[in-house]
Amino acid sequence: MTSTGSNREFSRRHLLGIAGMSAEEIGFLLDLSDGYVDLNREADKKQSLLHGRTLINLFFENSTRTRTSFELAGKRLGADVINMSVGSSSIKKGETLIDTAMTLNAMHPDVLVVRHSDSGAVNLLAEKVNCAVINAGDGSHEHPTQALLDALTIRRRRGKLQGLTVALCGDVRHSRVARSNMYLLDAMGARVRIIAPPTLLPTAAERFGVEIFHDMRAGLEGCDIVMMLRLQTERMQGSYVPSTREYFHFWGLDAEKLACAKPDALVMHPGPMNRGIEIDSELADDLTRSVILDQVELGVAVRMACLDALAAHNGAG
Ligand code: NCD
Repeated sequence: MTSTGSNREFSRRHLLGIAGMSAEEIGFLLDLSDGYVDLNREADKKQSLLHGRTLINLFFENSTRTRTSFELAGKRLGADVINMSVGSSSIKKGETLIDTAMTLNAMHPDVLVVRHSDSGAVNLLAEKVNCAVINAGDGSHEHPTQALLDALTIRRRRGKLQGLTVALCGDVRHSRVARSNMYLLDAMGARVRIIAPPTLLPTAAERFGVEIFHDMRAGLEGCDIVMMLRLQTERMQGSYVPSTREYFHFWGLDAEKLACAKPDALVMHPGPMNRGIEIDSELADDLTRSVILDQVELGVAVRMACLDALAAHNGAG
């Protein structure tokens, strides 16, 4: 595959969130990603679109999938990739987020991929630097590339997004994945259900235009896609759930509850999974239902597509 360079459909400087993106922009990124899925299955995956460019992964929160896939994406497009480890940087010495960003900016990176525990931190940083910024997850706000890879996974399996019923289950309150998915699925004409205990609903959940259920079996009835979310205890101050055992009993996905959804409903999870808490371990590994590893595979292609699309607006392509 050769680099597209033809990114007139996508003229953003940064990728900070799905909110405000049009169906055309989302469709454009998904189409571009499809090409990169094919490339990633070839023996020779290397392209030169970003040759000479520098990508810095700046992660203030832990990550396995997202950081690795941005690194692979950058390298496969020919960029030089630097991973900033917060533990060994001056951030530990008290340097602020903005100071760190300005310091890195002075070294002329072309793309900063940023993850931070505060909602809004990545938007703030994007105002201060003159390179492209990609939000790799900010607090419980947005995680746009995750929603894109989820959409690509669904679209490749079902051929469409429009008209599908997608259930987002569990800790929606703390989930940036859920928030980005709600915006994306709404833009693409899918129906969204939230299935969660009242304590784990986002405040004013109705404003997302979703259907809300407090019973797993009722909520899963007729669903095409069942997206499980991790119980994000690191974002909880106080007690949101009685015990993890009880949580699994009521809110954990197992084969018996899944039987309420459509017979061919797909099971998704952004990872990392808490096996036996939000999802039954055997079901997570059941490749006839679970597309969790597809999500990981397609994540690399989506991140390549995002880098490709942003490069055109930032001086390449
Ligand atoms: C998600 C995240 O970090 O928001 N993980 C990911 O990016 N694959 C979900 C989570 O942490 O539960």
